[in-house]
Amino acid sequence: MRTQVGIVGAGPAGLMLSHLLHRQGISSVVLESRSRDYVEHRVRAGVLEQGSVDLLRATGLGDRLDREGLRHEGIELRFDGESHRVAMTELTGRAITVYGQQEVVKDLIAARLAAGGTILFSAEATRLSGLESPSPVVHYRYEGRDEELHCDFVVGCDGFHGVSRSAVPDGVLHTYERTYPFAWLGVLAAAAPAVDELIYAHHERGFALYSMRSPEISRLYLQVPADEDIADWPDERIWAELRTRLETVPGWSLNEGPILEKAITPLRSFVVEPMQWQRLYLAGDAVHIVPPTGAKGMNLALADVALLGDAFAAWYADGRTDLLDDYSRTALRRVWRAQQFSWWMTSMLHRLNADDPYEAKLQSAALRYLTTSPAYATSLAENYVGLPTV
Ligand code: FAD
Ligand code: DHB
Repeated sequence: MRTQVGIVGAGPAGLMLSHLLHRQGISSVVLESRSRDYVEHRVRAGVLEQGSVDLLRATGLGDRLDREGLRHEGIELRFDGESHRVAMTELTGRAITVYGQQEVVKDLIAARLAAGGTILFSAEATRLSGLESPSPVVHYRYEGRDEELHCDFVVGCDGFHGVSRSAVPDGVLHTYERTYPFAWLGVLAAAAPAVDELIYAHHERGFALYSMRSPEISRLYLQVPADEDIADWPDERIWAELRTRLETVPGWSLNEGPILEKAITPLRSFVVEPMQWQRLYLAGDAVHIVPPTGAKGMNLALADVALLGDAFAAWYADGRTDLLDDYSRTALRRVWRAQQFSWWMTSMLHRLNADDPYEAKLQSAALRYLTTSPAYATSLAENYVGLPTV
């Protein structure tokens, strides 16, 4: 098979890139190791920055988003038995939209298939070759056979555990990394959200987050130790812990309901530089991971491929290489802004080292400052809704 841009991975990054390229008249093929059903039902992120919403709308993907997405103009910080609203829209003029990642993925798949695009599901890329030549190859396994996809460029959008990054020779890439001694236990529950806005709760037993997917579905998270086993968390224990950490303001209680899904995700900060080598470009979780506290993962993936869409358009239209050459440097500015913000939110809101009371005092000081200083609150708000330029 031959195409102009070979894309590995049908997450938000790979699918959006294929969609953007199609709009510029550039052909692409997306290879995805999982089934369509699997990627359309994988429960992950839920917060779209203003810029992501603008991108989806501008490229014809705004219909269902505008109907079903929940626009939020603030978030709540809950700590020390008090609740404080960060009025994001008042402070920045921008807002976020709560719309599940799998809904974005469903919309993108539908749009690509309706436009005659090629996404091969259950097609696992096994290795890349010829990246230093004008015609690189993605080797993949499909229906029990070894196949080859020949292209002009390869874009690795295959997430943290993908194969693309490892095609770069040793010594080229530099890795920056931080692991955290805790993870998030995430649940999806058939319960009407008890609030209109997200609650980020700092509690002595650990962080908790109250989010949602629709007027009928709640999405909740609990900080748990990094090595925690989900088998030790029967539903009743999850609800009890959520009540302890969230029901800290008088007169407020959660709505409970059947738990539809639960999983534990480790927290990690990770960046690989540069995001390109020869004819291989890397985007999204394949080159950077943020802890989820700032809700940046999916948004960064979309921001990367928006740059790549423009860069390939310039190359195919008139042979311009400047945008492709600048891709890594430009994308990394936003990546590091999100790294710093996500690390800061994570450090401020989680239970850190129980043996170090100094850290807990710093956290309280930061949270208190957010409630009294419009300047500090604006800093949180402008990062959370997404910075137009970085
Ligand atoms: P992905 O969505 O990971 O897509 C990569 C795709 O590549 C996958 O479909 C994968 O199956 C495919 N693939 C991998 N290897 C191959 C191969 N060899 N051949 C072909 N295909 C391959 N962010 C938040 O902001 N909030 C959250 O609550 C949150 N929760 C998360 C929970 C989990 C379990 C994970 C893993 C991530 C979570 N994130 C969260 C982060 C966010 O979901 C990611 O940043 C986002 O999915 C990145 O999109 P992507 O397209 O770069 O990668
Ligand atoms: C959600 C996930 C996040 O990581 C976050 O910071 C806010 C909301 C969510 O899944 O709804």
